Amino acid sequence: MKKSDVLVIGSNMIDLMTYIKRMPVAGETVEADDFSMGFGGKGANQAVAAARLGAQVSFISMVGNDSFGEQQLANFKAANIDVSGVGVGHKNSGAAPIFVDPTADNRILIVKGANSELTPAVLDEHLDMIRNTKLIVLQQEIPLETNYHAIDLANRYGVPVLLNPAPANKQLDMEHVRRVDFFSPNETELATLTGLPTESMDEISRAAQRLVDMGVKNVLVTIGSRGVLWVSATTSQLIDAVRVDAVDTTGAGDSFIGSFANYYAQGETVPKALRHANEYAAITVTRRGTQKSYPTAEEVAAMYQPS
Ligand code: RIB
Repeated sequence: MKKSDVLVIGSNMIDLMTYIKRMPVAGETVEADDFSMGFGGKGANQAVAAARLGAQVSFISMVGNDSFGEQQLANFKAANIDVSGVGVGHKNSGAAPIFVDPTADNRILIVKGANSELTPAVLDEHLDMIRNTKLIVLQQEIPLETNYHAIDLANRYGVPVLLNPAPANKQLDMEHVRRVDFFSPNETELATLTGLPTESMDEISRAAQRLVDMGVKNVLVTIGSRGVLWVSATTSQLIDAVRVDAVDTTGAGDSFIGSFANYYAQGETVPKALRHANEYAAITVTRRGTQKSYPTAEEVAAMYQPS
C-alpha cells in the first residue's frame, strides 16, 4: 500500500450556514440575511484542507445512509481524498446548524448521526491505512474510545499523531493525550481541559505549560487573531497570526490543523509549518463557508511567499 502524507480519522457533517444579525430569543422569529448548505465536519474539513494543498490524504469516516452521505463521498473524491476508509452507517448523516453573526463569529450545533458509528472496530478494518501514513490527525466528533484506539495503533506502528480536542470534552483522558505528538486545543478548549483561566497570554502560556508538565509533548494553542502558541519541554514561542478582515471564521481552526498537517508531513519544521498554517487559515476567514473557503496551493502561492 502506498504511504499517505496524512490520515484523518474523524467526522463529516452537512453544514447549514445561516448568516444572522442577531440570535432570536425564545418564542421569537427573526429574519436572517442569507443561508447556504456546505460540506463540513471537523475531520472532513481538515482532510480537505490538506488535500487542497496537494497532500496525499486518506480518510476514515462514516457517512449517513442517505443522499447527504452520497454527496459527502462525491465531495471527498472530488478533493482527491482516498475514500477506501469511508463507510456508510445505519444512521442519518451528521449535520451542523451554524449561525454566523456580523462580527464573523459563529455558534455551532452538531448532530453526530453516523459519526457516532465510527467505533474502534472500524479502525481494525483499516490497519494498513493506519500503518502507512506520515501523520494521523484526530478530532472529537467521533467516540472518544475510537480516538484512544487510534492512538494505541499509531503508537504500536510508530506513526505520529496530532489530536485536536475539538469540541472540548472534559472526559478526555490525559493518559492518552501524553501519547500523541501534537495536541492542539484553542484557548477555550485549553481552559476546559486544564480548569485554568486562558484570557491573557500569560494565562494561556501557564495553562499550556501545565499540559507539558503533565507529559504532553507539543502543545499548539490556537488563539484566533493572536496566532498560535507552541509550548514543549524545550520551547515556548508565539507565531503571530496574519491580520485580515474576517467575514466568517467557521472552520478556520480546521483549516489551520489540516494545513499544518500537510506542511509538517511534507517535511517543514514545526515553526515554519505553523506560520504557513496561519497564512492558510487567514485566507479562509476572508471568505464565507467552511470547506468552500479553503484555498488551493496555487491560491496560497499567489498571496504568500513560499520561504
Ligand atoms: O469547525 C467547524 C465545523 O464544526 C463545521 O464544519 C461543523 O460541521 C462542525 O463540525
